[in-house]
Amino acid sequence: MGRIISTLALSAVCILSFGLDARAGVTAADIAKYDLASGESVYNKSCAACHTSGILKAPKTGVKADWTARLGQGMNTLVKKSIDGYTAEGNMPAKGGDAELTDKQVGDAVAYMVKQVL
Ligand code: HEC
Repeated sequence: MGRIISTLALSAVCILSFGLDARAGVTAADIAKYDLASGESVYNKSCAACHTSGILKAPKTGVKADWTARLGQGMNTLVKKSIDGYTAEGNMPAKGGDAELTDKQVGDAVAYMVKQVL
């Protein structure tokens, strides 16, 4: 009986820790791979117009409640969706509508935005 209970307890701990991992999503270590200074200037040029005010249902920069669930997707998915563009509740244009940006610049800008809510 004791063994069954401890097995169950162990399973619960595993499930719980997997759950926490999923929620952690993006970590400071993920952000450290990007150039935040480049990200800030790209953000100001090509992303701020929507993400400062939250126009078209864009998640607002620096507002944690807008980002918590999104961060669960992980950094790679956030960057890929920003490069390709996507539509869920609103409409995020590919590269924020600035086709001249490289994929790396978009990644830097995402890292800059995510850093404001980590
Ligand atoms: C024309 C307005 C607009 C511009 C400019 C814009 N975005 Fe967005 N962005 C949105 C909207 C709207 C959403 C939310 C879309 C939705 O969830 O349906 C969004 C969502 C996002 C998300 C969240 C993705 C997710 O999976 O939840 C990221 C990251 C993002 N944008 C990054 C950027 C970056 C980086 C730039 C600049 C290169 C940028 N955006 C420029 C409107 C914009």
